[in-house]
Amino acid sequence: MCGIVGYIGSKKAKPILINGLLRLEYRGYDSAGVATIEKNGISVVKNKGRVAELEKLSAIDSLEGTIGIAHTRWATHGKPSTENSHPHVNGKKDFAVVHNGIIENYNELREFLLKQGYTFYSQTDTEVIPNLIDYYFSKDDKDDDKKVLRAVVSACSELKGSFALEILSTHLPDKMIVVRKDSPLVIGKTDTENYISSDIPAILSYTKDFYLLDDYEYVVLSKGSAEFYNSDLKPIKKQTVNIDWNASAAEKDGYDDFMLKEIHEQPKSIRETIGSRLSADGTCNIESLDFTKEYLNSLNKICIVACGTAMHAGLVGKTIFEKFCHIPTEVDIASEFRYRDPLINEKTLVVFITQSGETADTIAALKLSKQKGAKTLAISNVIGSSITREADYTIYTHAGPEIAVASTKAYTSQVVLISILAIYFAKLLEMKGKEIDALKDAILELPSKVEETLKCSKQIKCFAKKVYKEKDLFFLGRGIDYNVALEASLKLKEISYIHSDAYAAGELKHGPIALIEKDITVVSIMTDPNLVEKTISNVQEVITRGAKTLVITNQNLGDHKFDNIITIPETNPLISPILSVIPLQLLAYYISKEKGLDVDKPRNLAKSVTVE
Ligand code: G6P
Repeated sequence: MCGIVGYIGSKKAKPILINGLLRLEYRGYDSAGVATIEKNGISVVKNKGRVAELEKLSAIDSLEGTIGIAHTRWATHGKPSTENSHPHVNGKKDFAVVHNGIIENYNELREFLLKQGYTFYSQTDTEVIPNLIDYYFSKDDKDDDKKVLRAVVSACSELKGSFALEILSTHLPDKMIVVRKDSPLVIGKTDTENYISSDIPAILSYTKDFYLLDDYEYVVLSKGSAEFYNSDLKPIKKQTVNIDWNASAAEKDGYDDFMLKEIHEQPKSIRETIGSRLSADGTCNIESLDFTKEYLNSLNKICIVACGTAMHAGLVGKTIFEKFCHIPTEVDIASEFRYRDPLINEKTLVVFITQSGETADTIAALKLSKQKGAKTLAISNVIGSSITREADYTIYTHAGPEIAVASTKAYTSQVVLISILAIYFAKLLEMKGKEIDALKDAILELPSKVEETLKCSKQIKCFAKKVYKEKDLFFLGRGIDYNVALEASLKLKEISYIHSDAYAAGELKHGPIALIEKDITVVSIMTDPNLVEKTISNVQEVITRGAKTLVITNQNLGDHKFDNIITIPETNPLISPILSVIPLQLLAYYISKEKGLDVDKPRNLAKSVTVE
């Protein structure tokens, strides 16, 4: 997905911009470019391919400017090419723009501008923006220091869709204008500089003080200041937020890949998620929530809405909410929920889970839920992300920045947090019982048990060497183990490009068993004592048909024989996914490594999907 970086200060902008782009590489992209303000105007250097290709261009060495914008592009409108990459300029080259998002009415605007005599050189939706700014700038007779800002505001009021923009102009050579709508953009400030980015980790090594922009807040940046305006050009006041992430958390710290590092960070990230929410004396509190017993009793249902891995975390939440709170709970994929006119109202609590807090479908589902009168609660990992500003309530996973596209530590932290949320609700509802206390204790023991589980790494690596050439893999489980099977299958597809499917083990006989033939690999998860015998029977059925097996378990399997068994620590079955997913995260990782693939930046995928 596209990434944005910008700098305005006294240092040479180019190295800062390139460094920021490199930190955004994990988002996935196909071209990159920078523009700076030089003595003789705006200089643009861009190229198809990686940032390394951009750095090879001799033109980039001559950039001396201290104000610059930069972009990595993930093609949507127009193929990956140098012409289509950002920054884009108008014909006179007095405006340069980088853009994240999609301009839905770009065709209309392009037609209009063509009629006004403008020429286009790319197939992108973005190119209308510098031209539209130029159009309004040229029409404005008043010549004052707000002229460029007025043109930007007029142009943005015409744009439909989503955008985060950085704008340079030769008419405002000491400044930069930035604005966003439904696409992330933050400004990191020091006393003498401003750093801009679509992602906090890209600029985290420079500052921890950030301005988090709301939609249609226009910012005029200069070396040591940031002036904020609303769409009526009225000045607005803005406070910085301190983002307490450790910059080294966004580095690889000696690991080969971010994904491996993030898998191994899970004892720590889970500890951070638990924080002071749950303590050994049995107390459970969640900051920033003011729900009451009456409110929870009035609910007709809880809906959990999310995409991808976050949705799989929601599935675990459903079981716990229903078991401990006795509130019917549905789990929905955000892109389905938003278009199916869901039956929700003011008696529904809708919980959104999103690591990035920027997923377009999840945000749209939240807006729809609010329109329908439901209360909304976001679970996110990114402080100040878009969803957190839309939701009625936000709770943070505190897992630290997750850089690898395939989500690992964010998933386990989401499961931990939703479990704590269910305990908190159960407490408000005055539900009592040994089982709730047992779950609390089990959550507190998780960090050390995750540590223990990670010891299976070598065994998994050996197994990956045996299966990495396979074309298909199957994952089986029942109940909560089925939820993990879904997540394991997604992880494998994402980073190894091996086709895989996950089935509820009991469904095998209703179709999928037809696919089982000699030497096919079936991975099964067995952590629920009440269901283990049933799943064993299903696995026997595939063994009879010649399948090779890997079993992830913490149960006694008696005399049953399987080709490979990974034993994980025992825990409360409700939160067993937090342990059983770890060997499966490692399996996807090591298979991808055996195949020589780019684990952190899988093809066609993006970390943060800010378009529909
Ligand atoms: C993308 C990522 C997935 C992630 C999903 C939801 O598809 O590749 O790893 O699970 O988005 O992301 P979110 O930030 O909303 O949790």
